[in-house]
Amino acid sequence: MENKVKSLIEAAENAINSAVTNLKELDDVRVKFLGKKGEFTTLVKIMGELAAEEKPRIGKIINDARTQIKNLIDDKKAALKAQELQNKLASEKIDVTLPGRKIYRGHLHPLTLTLNRVKEIFIHMGYTVEEGPEVETDYFNFEALNLPKDHPARDMQDSFYITEEILMRTQTSPVQARTMQKNNANAPIRMIAPGRVYRRDDYDASHSPMFTQIEGLVIDEGITFADLKGTLDFFCKKIFGETAQIRLRPSFFPFTEPSTEVDVSCMMCHGKDEHCKVCHGSGWLEILGAGEVHPDVLAMSGYDPSKVSGFAFGMGIERIAMLTYGIDDLRLFFENDVRFLNQF
Ligand code: DAH
Repeated sequence: MENKVKSLIEAAENAINSAVTNLKELDDVRVKFLGKKGEFTTLVKIMGELAAEEKPRIGKIINDARTQIKNLIDDKKAALKAQELQNKLASEKIDVTLPGRKIYRGHLHPLTLTLNRVKEIFIHMGYTVEEGPEVETDYFNFEALNLPKDHPARDMQDSFYITEEILMRTQTSPVQARTMQKNNANAPIRMIAPGRVYRRDDYDASHSPMFTQIEGLVIDEGITFADLKGTLDFFCKKIFGETAQIRLRPSFFPFTEPSTEVDVSCMMCHGKDEHCKVCHGSGWLEILGAGEVHPDVLAMSGYDPSKVSGFAFGMGIERIAMLTYGIDDLRLFFENDVRFLNQF
């Protein structure tokens, strides 16, 4: 009997020390030796067959052995748990020397960036920023700008009408009349009005049925064409660089008299490359329309043309952005391809 116990202890010791590699296997060993149907239970049963005087001695041996094995298992359990923790710490180790991962962030759209630059230049010159609705009345979009119904110049801007009197504005110019009409008569104005405009145009590399304009209007006593020219020259140098020059060509707009179209010197070739893709060798790029505010436009909105005068201008933001960023297809602004947008 004693030998049997001894060999059981040895067997258990062997099993625990050599075979067991995880807590599950250790528990299997526990069940095998100490479990209800384990080796020791069998031993205890055999004890019944022993002589009465032998029982206490053998019983003690068996109990001691059981305790010994239990201790061995507990020790092993603690060791395995410690090992498991070590493994976990090792596998989840954080390498604090690794460079950080870049967070992918959105940013402003190139048109917004351009619009902000333009706005900033005029705000620095003391202009206020006005707004008007994109769904506009025929009155503000055309009539108050000296374009009565059936005026042929309405054909210059093919419009999206909603009803006979309401349309998507074709230009930001209606904000001129709106600003004058909300002011006291003849009060000085120095404002810009950025926003979206809509026209029944094709959608191609240089046209879009929706695009962005910025309007300018200055009214005060003694405002002349020279003020307009100086302002636009300053603006172009700020936005295109100090070497930029402007050229004024006579033109026609119903709301200005005289009217002009303004070109800026080509910032790509400076007029030196006859094959230039941007100016096609002319050296000049058309960027905006402008003029002295027509007396009738002033009068229609409550300003007295014998007391005050003014100038106005309007330009397309897409065009400015294309020229400053060197973009040759307008549609890129509206298609939201991140490969394009990420470059700004
Ligand atoms: N509204 C004109 C257009 O969309 C641009 C324009 C020309 C605006 C002359 C003006 C101006 O204020 O004076 O084509």
